[in-house]
Amino acid sequence: MAPVSLTEFEPVNIFYGVNGAGKTSVLESIHLLSSARSFRSHKLNPLINNSLEKCVVFGEVFLSGRGYLPVGVERYKATGRSGAIKVAGQPVSSAAVLAENLPVQVISSDTFKLLEGGPVVRRQFIDWGVFHVEQSFHAVWRNVQRGLKQRNSLLRHGRIDQQQLHAWTLELIKYSEQLDALRLHYFQQFLPVFEKLLKRLVDLEDLSVSYFRGWDKTRDIADIFEENLLKEIDKGYTTVGPHRADLRLRYKAMAASEVLSRGQQKLVVCAMRVAQGLLLSTLTGKQCVFLVDDLPSELDSMHRQALCELLEEINCQVFLTCVDWKDVIDYWSSENKVKLFHVEHGKISINDSRIR
Ligand SMILES: Nc1ncnc2c1ncn2[C@@H]1O[C@H](COP(=O)(O)OP(=O)(O)OP(=O)(O)O)[C@@H](O)[C@H]1O
Ligand SMILES: [Mg+2]
Repeated sequence: MAPVSLTEFEPVNIFYGVNGAGKTSVLESIHLLSSARSFRSHKLNPLINNSLEKCVVFGEVFLSGRGYLPVGVERYKATGRSGAIKVAGQPVSSAAVLAENLPVQVISSDTFKLLEGGPVVRRQFIDWGVFHVEQSFHAVWRNVQRGLKQRNSLLRHGRIDQQQLHAWTLELIKYSEQLDALRLHYFQQFLPVFEKLLKRLVDLEDLSVSYFRGWDKTRDIADIFEENLLKEIDKGYTTVGPHRADLRLRYKAMAASEVLSRGQQKLVVCAMRVAQGLLLSTLTGKQCVFLVDDLPSELDSMHRQALCELLEEINCQVFLTCVDWKDVIDYWSSENKVKLFHVEHGKISINDSRIR
């Protein structure tokens, strides 16, 4: 995309234009500001213009009570150079500082992957929520990662240093239990909010969501580690723990991803994401930004309307892409809160001459 500058967004911002105009790229730039990553790919290269070496995004986030916070992200294509992240003019070493100030949820045509994909996406989902509401989460999570890394490296080692293995196992147990308690507490708050919102979107009474902590809920992780020791030495890694946690979605005793239609799966995921946005503002007072790419194409008009109503109700800020603004403008109750941006060949212009 050519360099663009956008100022003054509204609660609802609609980016419209033909295929390939650059609409999703606009959402990607906001996502980059919130996490230093792309939402479409785990690689950075596709995000950066083929003919350029790097991309830079700068923005200001309005934080109630604190005013405007400048944030900037620079990312390089070439490996070896990661680029800078700046918050309030100061370089920061972790993208977590971005996420803290700009919580973002994405709803896109890939949204159903939260159900269909592996546990890692659902762990990331729950951890997004825990990160924002539990201050201690980040430190605990890092300690679990460190404990796992050390323990796995010892397990892989030919001649095991029993003393060290014992010490790292104790460390891992301590932080695993803490992480599980944080996730469980968050999940217990999330579930009723999700169930209430889901009812507004779709009638799926037999859907159940449960949290799996990564090891048998009836047993102590310490006992399982002890019991599994020989097996884990043989395998060379830690087989149970919070790195195996998951959310299990079932519909009438079957995996939801196997029985629900694609549209129903998207609605379930929409309810999950909106629930997180709502919970975030209820528990922390922070406002969530929703990036809605190509207002999921497999949703019918009634369900799109229901989704937009929820987004409007929870008081978040929405950035939405579509081909024609006339297809989506009626979903919002107050036209005054909606701003239209026409995207054409990577250039963006404000459209304030709309006629219904
Ligand atoms: N890394 C890149 N370098 C150069 N051009 C790119 C790169 N990635 C994508 N593009 C191009 O940028 C243009 C805009 O892509 P984008 O996905 O933002 O379009 P869009 O408006 O969302 O389209 P659609 O309606 O099809 O979803 C496309 O022509 C795409 O091929
Ligand atoms: Mg697109």
